[in-house]
Amino acid sequence: MVLNAKFLWVQKILKDKKPNCDAMRKNGAEIVPVYSGSQTLVDAVSECMRYWVSNCDTTHMAVGSTVGPNIFIKICAWSTAQISRELIVQLKEEFGGVPKKLKLINCVGGGSSAAGFWNEFIDYNKSQVELVGVEAGGPKNSKLHAAPLTFGSKIGILHGAAQYVIQDKDGQIGETSSISAGLDYPGISPLHCFLKDTKRARYTSASDEEALQAYKLVSKLEDLSPSLEPSHAFAEAIKIAPKLSKDTIICVNSCGDAKKDKAIITKRLGFFR
Ligand SMILES: Cc1ncc(COP(=O)(O)O)c(C=O)c1O
Repeated sequence: MVLNAKFLWVQKILKDKKPNCDAMRKNGAEIVPVYSGSQTLVDAVSECMRYWVSNCDTTHMAVGSTVGPNIFIKICAWSTAQISRELIVQLKEEFGGVPKKLKLINCVGGGSSAAGFWNEFIDYNKSQVELVGVEAGGPKNSKLHAAPLTFGSKIGILHGAAQYVIQDKDGQIGETSSISAGLDYPGISPLHCFLKDTKRARYTSASDEEALQAYKLVSKLEDLSPSLEPSHAFAEAIKIAPKLSKDTIICVNSCGDAKKDKAIITKRLGFFR
């Protein structure tokens, strides 16, 4: 079966994403630039939904994060859940089982990789397995961010789902900013709103600069070149590690490779590893 896949991406980030686009085109995908709005992730999702409702007789929509109406969240979270099953296998190999003190740190944009990383661990007691979500804190000297859970945004409706969302006093969706295009989303999956409200997960943020410093350290010390999204999670790990007992195990989901962020990392740090 041949599927004609169209990927809607905002034009502003497309120019920095040539390697991704080339790989996707090679597999037969068509990349459709989106020019509307603030040219961030929120506009790509809106445009995707607009296209879908205008062509629903011939089109299925898939969203690359746990956002949008309920079923899309379920499909996405179901497909990423494999990450945590793999992690269980790796924990068994490394420690003989799930450690007594474990912290699972994941970046959170819409929340799909965190939902997948945590899936098998939700029912563990939080004193054993702490779930830590790291949102995009944005540029250090700016009030803009993409961290609705960290900064106490109110509940609103975005892309067909109620969620904590960055908004103005009239409920209009607010502007966001992040060095990481994948985290630059004003809302957050309802799944994570639930995990925050029930206090099962803890949410915090890392600034653009902290993420870059984390990239610098991790790519120097480890055989790893994390993209800017997981660099936010590494920033939190670096922040909390010195305060933890020696028997606490931290797992960070290095959910993306920096190759896609080569242009921006080189521009900001002057090198790329
Ligand atoms: C590598 C990578 N990690 C994380 C994210 C954030 O998305 P989510 O919060 O849905 O995992 C993205 C989004 O594009 C991404 O590209």
